Amino acid sequence: MDVKFIELQSHGDERGSLVSLEENKNIPFEIKRVYYIFDTKEQVRRGLHAHKKLKQLAIVLKGSCRFLLDNGSEKIEILLDNPSQGLYIESVIWREMFDFSDDCVLMVLADSVYDESDYIRGYEDFIRIVKNAS
Ligand code: TYD
Repeated sequence: MDVKFIELQSHGDERGSLVSLEENKNIPFEIKRVYYIFDTKEQVRRGLHAHKKLKQLAIVLKGSCRFLLDNGSEKIEILLDNPSQGLYIESVIWREMFDFSDDCVLMVLADSVYDESDYIRGYEDFIRIVKNAS
């Protein structure tokens, strides 16, 4: 599956920790957009879509949440709970986020500005697009 963890170097000392994000260095694309999800209510499931082209990197800055990732033939579940770890998600991967802790702040870096036409919002459409591409 076109998904991987990127270890983000944490500069820690007696004062605490610092992580720096740089496009085309530790982030494998040009950063065109950053958004973050917080105050997520109990039992909420977000995402439930794929993207035609967009590449993203998700980092939980605080707390934890789970990702379900699906490339049409394989599904994996991932716990994100470490702000020094980025989850890189290529395009045409169905994603769902759930099990948000009360304090969860999930930040996402994206290689494009928001574009509704890049979304694949229906699971059946997603499967059709994956099958047509193979
Ligand atoms: P939505 O796609 O439902 O978020 P998620 O996939 O995480 O569940 O987005 C919620 C709202 O925010 C929706 O009205 C679109 C808007 N939005 C933006 O305006 N810009 C963005 O970068 C994103 C991700 C969403």
